[in-house]
Formats: sequence, structure tokens, C-alpha cells
Amino acid sequence: MNEAEETPEAANGALAPRVFSGIQPSGGLTLGNYLGAIKRFVEMQNSGIETIYCIVDLHAITVWQEPEKLRHATRELCAGYIAAGLDPGKSVLFNQSQVSAHAELGWIFSCVARIGWLNRMTQFKDKAGKNREKASVGLFSYPTLMAADILLYHATHVPVGEDQKQHLELTRDIAAKFNHDYGVDFFPLPEPVIEGTATRVMSLRDGSKKMSKSDPSDMSRINMTDDADTIAKKIRKARTDPDALPSEAAGLEGRPEARNLVSIYAALADTSIDAALQQVGGKQFSQFKPMLAELAVEKLAPIAAEMKRLMQDPGHLDAVLADGATRAHRIAAPIMERTLDIVGMVRAR
Ligand code: TYM
Repeated sequence: MNEAEETPEAANGALAPRVFSGIQPSGGLTLGNYLGAIKRFVEMQNSGIETIYCIVDLHAITVWQEPEKLRHATRELCAGYIAAGLDPGKSVLFNQSQVSAHAELGWIFSCVARIGWLNRMTQFKDKAGKNREKASVGLFSYPTLMAADILLYHATHVPVGEDQKQHLELTRDIAAKFNHDYGVDFFPLPEPVIEGTATRVMSLRDGSKKMSKSDPSDMSRINMTDDADTIAKKIRKARTDPDALPSEAAGLEGRPEARNLVSIYAALADTSIDAALQQVGGKQFSQFKPMLAELAVEKLAPIAAEMKRLMQDPGHLDAVLADGATRAHRIAAPIMERTLDIVGMVRAR
């Protein structure tokens, strides 16, 4: 056990920053995943902080996944990570099921979290819908496994999109209750990092709905594997309103579709909404949409091409994930061991 991990100081402010985040391999990657998460993952990696990025396959099976499709989606997500700029030499990239401590700590946290807490989770309500009784137990306890993902590494910062905020708050509640119940200061309270202009990318068909891989309409989203023509077509057909674009962000008030397209433009151009509006304010959508399509193709097409290339060598992707899993296990093992000790499990000395 690393001494630094045990001291109360280590559990809070004095811990070196460590970033953890994850994405489910449940279908293809969307522009929402890219702008809300992966692009931020790359920025954090390149800022020199220790970064660990997971493909959360155990989370994916909380709803039914065809085994072969799950394997394919896991490799495709690994390819997406790398194609978008994650470097397996700099970040730890791995799939969750290869580090069994995730499930182990998830169990312990399911004994810490309260049913009332999980009952409040909006993602469960949305995903289970009216058929709550038929939802898997895993879908209900999903956030306890997510807390385990993060806390298993004593991660301090978690880059996510807006929709994960409530899960991050629950993670902090679990860490605090564990520390309190066992009289330790062992788990740090991780900070959500929800920043940038596209923390909630909306559907191209309905500006009040999140862009999602599970939306039945493919026209509602841009997939990271879409080709240039498809991207351009989806943007051309995206829902808008009849007015010209405003010159200031305040003018986007009450115009969800306009706000969404401008946010996407700003995020792809690495600029602020105000700066983007200085450039495109006053334009009609008929003028703005081709600009957005051109920018989207310029930024996304090379990623799609690189994903395709990487997918031709699944053995290489599997090797990247196996190596990442070994490195992840090395970080997680002492934290898991100490957790079991704190809880009172008899361990070989
Ligand atoms: P998932 O797989 O649904 O989404 C992965 C990441 O993409 C972000 N995202 C979006 N951001 C902006 N606009 C959108 N339309 C959009 N859609 C998705 C999500 O916010 C997320 O950051 N529970 C997580 C996976 C997870 C995890 C973790 C994340 C499991 N363990 C530990 C962080 C830390 C999820 O379902 O993400």
C-alpha cells in the first residue's frame, strides 16, 4: 500500500490530480460524445495530467447487448478514442471488465448507497420508462458501479457532459458516506468537469432533446463514422427557425435549435459562442448551414477515416486495451485492497 494513499491529506486536496472518465460501448459514437466528452479527454491528456479513460462494457450490459455487437462496439470505441487524439502511451485506455476490481468495489458501494438515492436518478427514470418492473437490477444500481469506476483510482477530476452531473453528485455522496461510516478519509470527493460550449449537444430534429445514440432517428444525430455527404445532409436537414442568427448569445434565448447549431459550430471551431456569433451573426440558416457542414466535415472526416483504418486491425486494439488494463489494475489494486481492509474483510498478510 502506497503511504500517500492512506493519509487523510491524500484523500483530499493534497492528492495529485488524476482524471478518470468513461463511455459506454452501446452503439456508435455521436457528436455529443465527441464534443461533450472525448474532445475534453484529449485536452486533459495533453495538459500533462494523469488520465485514465475507460470503455465501460459492464455498464453497457445493463440493457441487452448482442455479444458480437458489444465486442465490435468496444473495439470501435477504442478506435474512436485513438483516432480523436488519445494516445495509449500517455493515457491509460482500457475496458472496464478487464479490471475486476470495478465490479468488486461496485458491490461494496451498492451496500453504501441508499435505495432512496438511486430512486432519484433521472437517467434510470428515462431509460426504464414506464416499464420499471422489467428493467434490469443493473440499470437501477448503475450509478454505484460508476462511483466505483472513479473512486477505484482516487480520481480527482471527471470530464463528462451535462447529463452525467447527477451521477457525479451521487459518486461524491457515496465517497462521503463511506468515509463517514468507516471513520476514514480515504476516498476523495471527485470534481465533475463540465466545461466548454457543447456540454449538452441536442438532437438535430428537436432542440429540446439530447442528441443520443439511442434515438430511433439517425437524422437526429451525427455519428462519428458518418461520411462527409451524410454529415452535410444531416446538417442541411436540421430543424431551425425562420430568423437570421443573432450577433450576441442573448439573442439565442428561446431558440433551442439555433443555440444548438451555434454551440456545435463554436465547439468544433474551438471558440466561444460570442466569438462564433461575431462571425456568423446576421446570417440566414441557408448561409450558416453550409459553413457548419464544412467545418464539421473538416474536423470529423479525418477521425472517421482513422477509425476505419484502426478497425482493420482488431488485434492491435485488443492489445492496447490489454496493456491499459494491466496499468489500470496496478493503480487500482492497492486501493481495492485497502478498501477491503477498511470494511473488515480478512486479508492474507
Ligand atoms: P455515455 O456513454 O452515455 O456518454 C459518454 C459521455 O458522453 C457525454 N454525452 C454528451 N455530451 C454532450 N452532449 C450530448 N448529447 C451527449 N451525449 C453523451 C456524456 O455526458 C458522457 O460524458 N454513465 C456514463 C459512463 C460512465 C462514466 C463512468 C463516466 C460510466 N462510468 C465514470 C464518467 C466516469 C454514460 O452513460 O456515458
